[in-house]
Amino acid sequence: MSIQQDNQFQAIISHAKEYGFVFPSSEIYDGLSAVYDYGPYGSELKKNIRDYWWKSMTQLHENIVGIDAAIFMHPTTWKASGHVDNFSDPMIDNKDSKKRYRVDHLLEAKADQLREKGADEEADALLAKMDALLAAEDFAALRELMMEQKIVCSVSGTANWTEIRQFNLMFSTQLGSVAEESDTIYLRPETAQGIFVNFLNVQKTARMKIPFGIAQTGKAFRNEIVARQFIFRMREFEQMEMQFFVRPGTEGDWYQYWKEARLQWHLSLGISPEKYRFHDHVKLAHYAKEACDIEFEFPFGFKEVEGIHSRSDFDLTQHQNFSKKKLQYFDTEINQNYVPYVVETSIGLDRMFLLILSNAYEEEVIHKEDGSTDNRVVLHIPAKIAPNKLAILPLTKKDGLPEIARDLMNACKPYFKCFYEEKDAIGKRYRRQDAIGTPFCVTIDHQTKEDQTVTIRYRDSMVQERVLMSMVKDMVLEQLM
Ligand code: GAP
Repeated sequence: MSIQQDNQFQAIISHAKEYGFVFPSSEIYDGLSAVYDYGPYGSELKKNIRDYWWKSMTQLHENIVGIDAAIFMHPTTWKASGHVDNFSDPMIDNKDSKKRYRVDHLLEAKADQLREKGADEEADALLAKMDALLAAEDFAALRELMMEQKIVCSVSGTANWTEIRQFNLMFSTQLGSVAEESDTIYLRPETAQGIFVNFLNVQKTARMKIPFGIAQTGKAFRNEIVARQFIFRMREFEQMEMQFFVRPGTEGDWYQYWKEARLQWHLSLGISPEKYRFHDHVKLAHYAKEACDIEFEFPFGFKEVEGIHSRSDFDLTQHQNFSKKKLQYFDTEINQNYVPYVVETSIGLDRMFLLILSNAYEEEVIHKEDGSTDNRVVLHIPAKIAPNKLAILPLTKKDGLPEIARDLMNACKPYFKCFYEEKDAIGKRYRRQDAIGTPFCVTIDHQTKEDQTVTIRYRDSMVQERVLMSMVKDMVLEQLM
């Protein structure tokens, strides 16, 4: 990350804290590494992103239904899914500092350094070699590659490395109060398995016909060894996943369909297509047949925000084998019973939140008509997911203006989230709303009493216009569709 990018990222993190979006968890005890809490505007924004995803999946697709499965699942689930044996990352320890690193992160950081020096080809070659070695699980050669690249620990500054070893990322806990009676269970590392084990329950009760999808949002937990970059990589995070069940042989087409459909969802938020790219996986997860990431250009470079995975019939077949219960579908069109194939879309809600924040944040210099300049920090959050949609601001606390403003507040608040404020000069109040991303402000002044008009101010352009107060609700609603 360049110094400029780092400064920009640090500014976003500070802004998120100062304006009530994201706080370090249990901060009064100095926080807990890679765990965060969402504040008043953060929880609103997060909910709006979740709702926007949920609507696109379960309302706009007639063949997708939702579920809400428990975080705890029968422990055999994770044996069957392969997570007990395979859900691990190659790690390496520095013997001097005793710090542990993910090998791919060290090599990726080296590639970033090469790029900063303009050695793009060398960086690409390094990442290609790393991908091939990871895919082959050739840890000796990976370690050699690290040595060749002279990668050192950022704490000790030495290359005194251990061998590379695999570490499982699942958190475990005990179910039951007495140790002898207890059973080791896991905090789910992905929400997807709650969908697979419910496949038949959902298919039968909602009378779904293939192709159809099951969507779910919820918490997932991973003991990330190197948790960093704010809410980009957390130990407790939220996923929004959808498993799409299809007839075997059609998964290639559906994989292409969902790749495109998911990119369009991102673009529907008005984010520039240049900020996105696909990255096809060379090293496939233990369940995947074909997989790619949708990457976004964060302040620290292009990184994964969402995965599209063609998971074949791996999960349902595994659960069928371990549970000894049939997980099949009778396809009346072709008169056949089969285990459906699955195409999955999986996006991290917290990562999407960081994407929105990074994309929205701007330190703007305003050039005024008199030649002077002013500054503001503004969050250009898309109106449909902004925490507050409309701020209602009486110009003064007297002369009946608050009463008129309250009437407008009461007319609008059943429809969308509004914010009411009387205190401080109007310019200061506008700046505060800019900083939390409120797309529209309305000011009620003395003229309102005469002609029932108000000033509506648009966050992004700062243009102000006079409109009838009775039009405000519909003007805002129109922007939220
Ligand atoms: N069910 C498939 C699955 O879990 P994944 O690529 O491991 O696939 C999907 O995770 C998405 O979940 C990622 O694209 C990312 O957005 C999010 N995610 C994964 N690990 C995360 C972490 N430690 N912190 C925040 N988000 C994470």
